[in-house]
Amino acid sequence: MTDKALIEQAKKAMENAYVPYSHFKVGAALLDKNGTVFRGCNIENASYGATCCAERTAIFKAVSEGIREFEKIAIVSNSNQLTPPCGICRQVLWEFMPDGIVILQNDSEEIKTYTVRELLPVGFTL
Ligand code: THU
Repeated sequence: MTDKALIEQAKKAMENAYVPYSHFKVGAALLDKNGTVFRGCNIENASYGATCCAERTAIFKAVSEGIREFEKIAIVSNSNQLTPPCGICRQVLWEFMPDGIVILQNDSEEIKTYTVRELLPVGFTL
């Protein structure tokens, strides 16, 4: 699947974002090694710390279905800027796709891609 097609899936995922507190919508689309896409959005909570980011929603959906090998993830938001994954999500990406690719797009359709290792050069491993 092309990066652009995966970004379109992330935009679709963003439609379901539950963001009554921040109004900051995020969508993620995760491509597994077999070509299946898992979509995720951010899901906020009145107890702010209980919020789940879009990236983790997508990864946890997939892992809970028994899928653990991923190629790339696209992330978009309703801000006009690129939305790189937060630190917690980087650590989760590291766990399941240390050799993966992260694709970001802003409102001006500018695309930037990073490796997970670029975003988290020295991830924690047990
Ligand atoms: N958010 C994500 O979904 N992904 C990130 O990597 C950054 C932050 C969400 C969490 C919260 O719902 C909103 O963006 C503002 O922090």
